Formats: sequence, structure tokens, C-alpha cells
Amino acid sequence: MSPRHFLTLMDLSSDELKQVLTRASELKKMHREGTQYQPLKNRVLAMIFEKSSTRTRVSFEAGMAQFGGHAIFLSSRDSQLGRGEPIEDSARVISSMVDAVMIRTFEHSKIAAFAANSSVPVINALTDDFHPCQLLADMQTYQEHRGSIEGKKVVWVGDGNNMCHSYINAAELLNFNLVIACPVGYEPNQQLVDKYAHRVAVLNNAQDAVKNADLVVTDVFASMGQEDEQEKRLQDFHSFQVNKALMSLANQDALFMHCLPAHRGEEVTTDVIDHPDSVVWDEAENRLHAQKALLEFLLC
Ligand code: CP
Ligand code: NVA
Repeated sequence: MSPRHFLTLMDLSSDELKQVLTRASELKKMHREGTQYQPLKNRVLAMIFEKSSTRTRVSFEAGMAQFGGHAIFLSSRDSQLGRGEPIEDSARVISSMVDAVMIRTFEHSKIAAFAANSSVPVINALTDDFHPCQLLADMQTYQEHRGSIEGKKVVWVGDGNNMCHSYINAAELLNFNLVIACPVGYEPNQQLVDKYAHRVAVLNNAQDAVKNADLVVTDVFASMGQEDEQEKRLQDFHSFQVNKALMSLANQDALFMHCLPAHRGEEVTTDVIDHPDSVVWDEAENRLHAQKALLEFLLC
């Protein structure tokens, strides 16, 4: 039987996603109370990183340790992956020795090829197209602060990137309305937008989009791998900064999120990210709890 993978949020049903989110908050409470819970004793997670990371690495590694298991860090720089060993061969070998594999890479097709040849669950820890683990944390965070997100208005401001695509998936699974505000030429994948058109609208004006928002989310202008576009993007995105004036158009109790790392003064101002309505620190911490819930779901 082929293993259960988590390559995009759509690998979970709506009910399964809700179950993982609720469990994430339970695991958080248990962790805070000091309850020892080790369902993954002697189990091993391989973590393959072809891009940089702080939150993702620390949360998966800490999560595995807290669950009584172990995590192995592999980078393309010092494994045979970086020397051209085929993905398919790497998948067969690595998955024969561990219980799950987490991958952060560039093309989504790479993680799909790995998963197709893996005998254990594969978790997407960010590709150029999706970042589903971050969405688990974001949705857990919204739920903890404001209750159910169903029927709410979520506004994505900025690049139609991997995070934005995962927000589109979340809108479908959790029934919220997503308005995406991005500069012309930086829209999300059109096929994805068309597929979930009943949940998603794309505008090219941030002010119009943010009106009556319950949650405003942004991300860096240039993602990993786009560093050489930074200067052009700074110009193209100049009217897509989340600042106090923009937030004042949202609902009074609107939350602000950012997956981090953030560039203060570029996509978000300091007074917004460091304001009490910003839940970025909870969002970052929840990576730990949400991914523990995911690991438990996939492996127990
Ligand atoms: N948000 C996020 O994935 O952070 P890292 O790049 O630090 O893992
Ligand atoms: N969109 C960003 C997210 C970083 C967590 C990137 O891909 O670099």
C-alpha cells in the first residue's frame, strides 16, 4: 500500500485538517503542562533541506525529540543529492531506513517524484509552489485567537507565491473567502484560482482588497531563489506594503500574520508586525505543535 503523503493541504480532507488543527492545540497544552507524550519512540524523520530554514528545521527537529523520536538533517550541499544522485534512487534508499521524510526544495515536481518512490510518508516543508506546513500553523493560530475561520474574509497582500497557493487550498478546505491583492504580473497560478474560484478573488489593489478583512497576511516580496529579482520587486510591490493605513481599512479586530522571516520596512512596517494585533510569534511557535499533530496523524 502506498504511504500517506502531505505534499499539499489537499492531501487532507476538510475533516482531517480540522482534526489536525484541534489536535495541534491539544498537543500545545500538553507540552506547556509538561506532560511527557512519546508516540514516536525509536522512529526517525529524515529532513532534506535544499533551501535555508530556521523555523521549519527547529520545529521538526524539536517535535521529533519531544515525541521520543529522532530527526536527521540532510542538506544538498553535503549529501549525494547535491552531486546528482537521482531523486528516485535517493527516495528508495532514504525511505528504506527512516519512518518519514520531510523535504524543502525548489520545483514541486521534485518532491512529487520523491514521494512516488518513497515507501514512507513524505512531508512538504516548502517548494516553489506550496508551503502547507505553514498553513497548518496559520490556521491553528487563527482558531486559537478568533475561533472558526469559516465564512471569514482573509486577505493575502503581495506575491502570488507558494504561501499564497497554500492559502487558496486552505480557503477551499476551511470555507473562508480569500481575496488576493498582488501587483500585475505577480498573480497566483491561474489554474488554482480557476479551480477554487468560488472561494478566491484576485485584485491588483491592496486598499480595495483589505476592506472588512478578518485576517491580513503577507510575505516577502522575493522568495528564496528569487534573490536576483529583489530590486525590481521592491519597485513593483511598492503599493503592496502592509502598513498602519492599510490595516485601518480592515475590520477592527483583524489579525495580522506573516510566515517569517520578515523584512521590516519592505512588505510590512514595524508598527504593524510589532502591534498587538500581529500574531506572528504564536504563528511561528505553532509550527511546532501543528507539525507534531501532522506527524502523529501520518505515523500513528
Ligand atoms: N516560515 C518558515 O518556513 O520559516 P523558515 O524558512 O525559517 O523555516
Ligand atoms: N515565500 C517564502 C516563504 C519563506 C518561509 C519563500 O519561499 O522564501
